[in-house]
Amino acid sequence: MSILVTGGAGYIASHTSVLLLKEGHDIVIFDNFCNSSSESIRRVESITDKKITAIEGDIRNRDDLIKVFDKYDIDSVIHFAGLKAVGESVDIPLKYYDYNLSGTITLCQVMKEYNCKSIVFSSSATVYGDPHTTPIKENFPTTATNPYGRTKLFIEEMLRDIFISDNEWKIVLLRYFNPVGAHISGTIGEDPQGIPNNLMPFVAQTAVGKREYLNIFGDDYDTPDGTGVRDYIHVMDLAQGHVDAIEKINSFDNVMTINLGTGNGYSVLDMVRAFEDASGRNVPYKIVQRRDGDIATCFADPSYAKEILGWEAKRSIREMCEDGWRWQSNNPNGYNNGEDKK
Ligand code: NAD
Ligand code: UFG
Repeated sequence: MSILVTGGAGYIASHTSVLLLKEGHDIVIFDNFCNSSSESIRRVESITDKKITAIEGDIRNRDDLIKVFDKYDIDSVIHFAGLKAVGESVDIPLKYYDYNLSGTITLCQVMKEYNCKSIVFSSSATVYGDPHTTPIKENFPTTATNPYGRTKLFIEEMLRDIFISDNEWKIVLLRYFNPVGAHISGTIGEDPQGIPNNLMPFVAQTAVGKREYLNIFGDDYDTPDGTGVRDYIHVMDLAQGHVDAIEKINSFDNVMTINLGTGNGYSVLDMVRAFEDASGRNVPYKIVQRRDGDIATCFADPSYAKEILGWEAKRSIREMCEDGWRWQSNNPNGYNNGEDKK
């Protein structure tokens, strides 16, 4: 099967590409590198010992996409490309609507023209807003509290409309919980630009000495220790969910909406301690005010993924932290144009 991986140089896509290649799929990576480095692709090649076709292009640009669909016989698309910083999306919403929504519209238009009607989309647990209860099931009400989340919701709705108009489409919406960790080799991982927005990259940079201390956003939530609780999932487990989805996609006769989480909730303090244990380093922290828009608790009911895909997360919090630490300590400056290459 020939799979177009949009945003293929990014964090989740690079890990997914490793597994796709290992399963014998042909992939074409398509990325504009606005939040990634081509070095990640070189490292995926080195992990898998395979040569990757990588095209620099923008999903908002029809001509860029047409060149790819003209040249390669694409059966399916795994669509990761997009912007993901919640805070930034509040400041510059138009950019988010443009990259995420317009980009996906253009992608689907070109797919349709080439009769490629199979897509796995990177959605997010953010579409559940502040859930009335946990664990979260796929049929819970959806809402969005920021422009990033709204782009995910709108894209989900748009893809459902596309299916209603033409039942030949095969569409899987994967709602990720909190991806963390890295490939066990320590050669690929999350490489945030500037100050990390998300907890675990910030923890890792604090452990390696790049940041003085972690700000913990609130310890007065209604949770066991007062800090926020999330469903952290190892990025390789998440990657496996994509392989399972793409391999089963032709058997589905409706749009499939599937949570990818572990079903376990861990607090910020749980994660800090787990990372300290795994790395042998201290992670100093200060408790500060709650961050706007944060919720107390969010974790998945992942039973539908098991039923439909036969998938379940296997890796522990310990492995998430050990693998994340191996990546961070081997590559303190991320990909940094390959200068840290091992
Ligand atoms: P990432 O930023 O590492 O990867 C996204 C990739 O898309 C980058 O390589 C970027 O350069 C590329 N890209 C962005 N806009 C593009 C465009 N217009 N044309 C071509 N390429 C473009 O992010 P990630 O964490 O790997 O996330 C992948 C997807 O999963 C995103 O859609 C994100 O919204 C979604 N998601 C991520 C999380 C998370 O916590 N990481 C959670 C839920 C959903
Ligand atoms: N946190 C801190 N300090 C930090 C960063 C985060 O205390 O420096 C806390 C947050 O308050 C929260 C927890 O750590 O309680 C996790 O925060 P993240 O920013 O890592 O993750 P979120 O759950 O807020 O959001 C992430 C992605 C969203 C996605 C969501 C669900 O950023 O895009 O997971 O998938 F929608």
